[in-house]
Amino acid sequence: MKKIGICLTRGWRSVIGRNLFVFVGILLTASIVYFYIDAPLKFKVAKIVESGDQEEYYSPRDNSISRVSFNDSKNDVIVFVHIQKTAGTTFERFLVRYQDNLPCKCMAHKKRCNCARSQSNETWLFSRYSTGWVCGLHADYTELVVNNCVQNVLDRQTGFKKNRNYYYTTFLRNPTDRFVSEFRHVQRGATWISSRHVCNGKPASLNDLPSCFDPRIGWEGVSLEEFISCPYNLAFNRQTRMLADLTLVNCYEHVRKPTHEQDRILLASAKENLRKMAFFGLKEYMDDSQWLFENTFQMQFSRKMSVWGKSKSNDTVLNESQIAFIKNVNKLDWELFEYALQLFKDRISQMKRLIIN
Ligand SMILES: *[C@@H]1O[C@H](CO)[C@@H](O)[C@H](O)[C@H]1NC(C)=O
Ligand SMILES: *[C@@H]1O[C@H](CO)[C@@H](O)[C@H](O)[C@H]1NC(C)=O
Ligand SMILES: *[C@@H]1O[C@H](CO)[C@@H](O)[C@H](O)[C@H]1NC(C)=O
Ligand SMILES: *[C@@H]1O[C@H](CO)[C@@H](O)[C@H](O)[C@H]1NC(C)=O
Repeated sequence: MKKIGICLTRGWRSVIGRNLFVFVGILLTASIVYFYIDAPLKFKVAKIVESGDQEEYYSPRDNSISRVSFNDSKNDVIVFVHIQKTAGTTFERFLVRYQDNLPCKCMAHKKRCNCARSQSNETWLFSRYSTGWVCGLHADYTELVVNNCVQNVLDRQTGFKKNRNYYYTTFLRNPTDRFVSEFRHVQRGATWISSRHVCNGKPASLNDLPSCFDPRIGWEGVSLEEFISCPYNLAFNRQTRMLADLTLVNCYEHVRKPTHEQDRILLASAKENLRKMAFFGLKEYMDDSQWLFENTFQMQFSRKMSVWGKSKSNDTVLNESQIAFIKNVNKLDWELFEYALQLFKDRISQMKRLIIN
């Protein structure tokens, strides 16, 4: 509650100058917000999945990890949950281009590759450069798993219902760095406005999820002050939100009315889902992440991700109060990240022991 208060007061000053539209949106009642913003924006309506059995996914018992004989089964699928600005693109590129155990067929000038198994022609990889964003742009855990999208999409491609073993993977990053990186990306013109945010079987409307900017104009050139002042900014605690089961907190209610209780539920859910993942990497530890992935799946990359993935853009210089503010609005992500760091270290040492034995 308090943090939203700060956001609003800080925000209004700069917002007035830049973007009256947003200012009006925050002030007016929900119905006017609906009328004013919802009308011009056309969300691509998601084809929503029939409710089915919850997907099965890989769940290492009592936090222990094991090596996966990935090539042995026709029913194994790696699914990548791509959280923005976490080195996910590097990882996805490596999976399709620099991995020789189950090589994907890539064609020149085509972004997507065919990662089919030779016998069945069914994909073993659910990711941006293989299947594409078939569950929506940067689909989150709720969309992929809770809404059963991965299962439904793959069933549709196969033509029948099939049990598969899903090995979920993701990358995480220092939340302050990730946030600033997202800010720079938005400043350069990205909005991810076509993300569906499907939860409880339907995409979030602008009533559920108010926009920080006029969707017809975008948010290019936004200042940091304005960016951090919008209380609905999905960059806040993005990693926690994208890994949590949002149906536990009535979907996006917490974005407009955050409560301590919902924060706890979100964080606990994100931690649990992270723990259930077959693999996660950390952008700060690219070499270790690569090593852990290679040894978990017994797949090798022919190049080093740490060399390839070096950020090319310049750092944004922040003063102490800005850093403190960003840290504060990403509190859940910081808690998740500290948890992930520990879990990552545990997994590395467990894997080392597994390899020796
Ligand atoms: C994967 O399976 C195929 C077919 O059984 C086999 O030819 C190939 O050598 C296997 N690859 C690895 C890395 O085990
Ligand atoms: C295999 O799958 C790819 C991509 O889904 C498709 O383009 C291709 O036509 C399929 N090939 C066969 C032989 O079914
Ligand atoms: C980074 O800074 C240098 C020197 O100030 C500048 O020449 C370069 O264009 C900048 N790069 C980006 C991506 O902003
Ligand atoms: C930090 O930078 C912001 C924006 O430039 C400025 O408003 C604020 O006064 C600065 N704070 C400190 C402690 O320098």
